[in-house]
Amino acid sequence: MVALSIHEALVKNDVKSLSKQEITKTLEVPPQQSMGDYAFPCFVLAKTLKKAPNQIANDLSANMESGLIERVEAVGPYVNVYLDKTFTGKAIVEEILNEREAYGSPSLGNGEQITIDLSSPNIAKPFSMGHLRSTVIGNALANIMQKCGYTPVKINHLGDWGTQFGKLITAYKQWGEEEKVKAEPIKELLALYIHFHEEAEVNPELEVQGRYWFKQLEDGNQEALALWKWFREVSLVDFQRIYQLLGVEFDSFQGEAFYNDKMEPVVNELEEKHLLSESDGAMVVGLDEFNHPPCLIKKSDGATLYATRDLAAALYRKKEYSFAKALYVVGGEQSLHFKQVFEVLKKMGYTWAADMHHISFGMMLKDGKKMSTRKGKIVLLEEVLKEAIELATENIESRNHELENKEEVAKSVGVGAVIFHDLKNYRQNDIEFSLESMLTFEGETGPYIQYTYARACSILRKGMNQVEIVEQSYQAFQDDKAWTVLSLLMKFEEVITHAYHQFDPSQIAKYTIDLAQAFNKYYATVRILEEDNQLGSRLQLVEATTIVLKEGLRLLGLKAPEKM
Ligand code: ARG
Repeated sequence: MVALSIHEALVKNDVKSLSKQEITKTLEVPPQQSMGDYAFPCFVLAKTLKKAPNQIANDLSANMESGLIERVEAVGPYVNVYLDKTFTGKAIVEEILNEREAYGSPSLGNGEQITIDLSSPNIAKPFSMGHLRSTVIGNALANIMQKCGYTPVKINHLGDWGTQFGKLITAYKQWGEEEKVKAEPIKELLALYIHFHEEAEVNPELEVQGRYWFKQLEDGNQEALALWKWFREVSLVDFQRIYQLLGVEFDSFQGEAFYNDKMEPVVNELEEKHLLSESDGAMVVGLDEFNHPPCLIKKSDGATLYATRDLAAALYRKKEYSFAKALYVVGGEQSLHFKQVFEVLKKMGYTWAADMHHISFGMMLKDGKKMSTRKGKIVLLEEVLKEAIELATENIESRNHELENKEEVAKSVGVGAVIFHDLKNYRQNDIEFSLESMLTFEGETGPYIQYTYARACSILRKGMNQVEIVEQSYQAFQDDKAWTVLSLLMKFEEVITHAYHQFDPSQIAKYTIDLAQAFNKYYATVRILEEDNQLGSRLQLVEATTIVLKEGLRLLGLKAPEKM
C-alpha cells in the first residue's frame, strides 16, 4: 500500500524503472520514528538515472506528495517518508476489514506446487523431538507458501524400510506378543528391537537371521511383508495421535518403501551417464569437485541406501508434482546427505536441483544436552503435549470458570504453547526445552498472543452493543500507540514475504509478539469503548488487529480461541 503511494510519486517524477514489488523490497524502516515511517534509499536508482543518490533524494523530495504521504524529507541519499496517520490508518483498516484473512497475501506464486518433506519419523521407533521440530516448522512453511500463492504438498517421507525391519521381524517371531503390540505399538516394538540387540551380543546367529528376514522382505515373502505392513500400520496409529494433537495433516505418506521399485531405473541412469564408480565393492558417485565424500548408491551386497531412495524420491516428485521448489525439513545432522543428493542430481544434468532446499534446524536441548530418543521417548512427547494441555487447563480455570468449551481451549493453548516455543526461535538455533517457560501467559509465548487475541475479541463484543455512531472521525489514529499498531498491521505482507524467501517462520512469530505487545499498550492507555466520535475507528482498529493476529497464528499452526 505504501509502496503503491511511493510508486505513484516516483512515476510522477518520471522514474518508471522500479515495480511496486521492487519498491516494497527496497523500502527501509528508519531507526527512529522521528525520522519518518519509511526511508527510500536512492542508490537503487543511481544507475538508471545516472545521478548521485543525494541528488536523486533532493530531486524526488521536491515533488513527492502523494496519497498516503504527509510529507517527505531528503536526508543524504535517503528520502524519509512521513505518512499521513489519519489517511493511511483509515486505508489500512479498510483494506484489512475488506480482505479479512486474505489480507497480507503476497502474490508471489501462481498455484505452482512446492513439495515439503516434513516430519518423516521412522516406524517402530519413537517420534523424536527432531521429528516434532520438522513437523512444526514444515507445517508453518506450508502455510506460508500457500499464503504466497503456491500449492504446498506435504509429504511424510516415513522411514519404513531398511535392514532394521529384518531384525524386528526376527525379534517379533521369537519373543513378540500380538496383544502387547496392539496395546502400545511403538513402545512394544521398540522393546523388541532393543531386546534383539541385547541378545545378539551373546548370540550372533540372530544377526544372520535378521539379514535373512530383510532379504525375505525385499524378495516379497508373504509372511515378512504381512508383518512389516502391520508394524507400519500400528506405528502410524501412534503417530496419528500426535498429528491430531498438533493439528497437522499430510498430503502423502509415501515413505522410503514406496521407492523400492523406483531405484533400479535411477541406478541404471547413473550407470548410463557414467557417474557410477566402484569403491570397496560398493557403487558410489564421486563428488570430489564439490569437496564432498562420494555418495553411496549401492552396498557391496546389492542393497540400496537412504540416499538412493532420496534420489528416486526426487525424480518421482519432480515428475508427479513438477514442483517449483522442493523443501526438506530435516535436522542439521543430515546436511551432508542432502548436499550429496542435490549434487548427484546436478551431475545427472537436472538443473532443477537448484530448486531443492534442505531446511535444516537445530537441536532440542534439555539442560544443554541433546534430548535422547532412546527408550520410550514417544511417551515423553505425547506426555509433553498432554502436560501442556493440563497446565493450560489449570491456568484457564483460574481465570475464567464459566468458559463453555474449556477443554478445546486448553488444547489450543497447551499445544499452541509447544508449537510457538519452537517457532519463535530462528530454526537453525538449538532450543532449550522448558515446559514452564512455554506455558506462561506472559512474555513471548503463544498463550500470551492467544490471550491478547481473546481480549481484543471481548472488546469487540462489548463494542457491538454500544449505540451506533454515525459521525466518524479517524483522528483516533493520530495517537502514538494507535499508530504503532497501525504501522505493524501495514507490515504484515512484508513480514510474510521475508519469511517466505528465508524459509523462516520465526519472523512471523516475532511479528505476532510485536503486534500483541503494541496492542496491549494501546489497550492499557486508551479508553477504546469511550462513546465519542472516534469510537467507530477505534473498534475498526481492534477488529483489524484480531484479523491479523488470528491469521498470523494460523500461519504458524496455532488456533485462536475467541474466549479464554
Ligand atoms: N526418517 C528420517 C529420520 O528420521 C528423516 C527423513 C527425512 N526425509 C528425507 N527425504 N530423507 O532421520
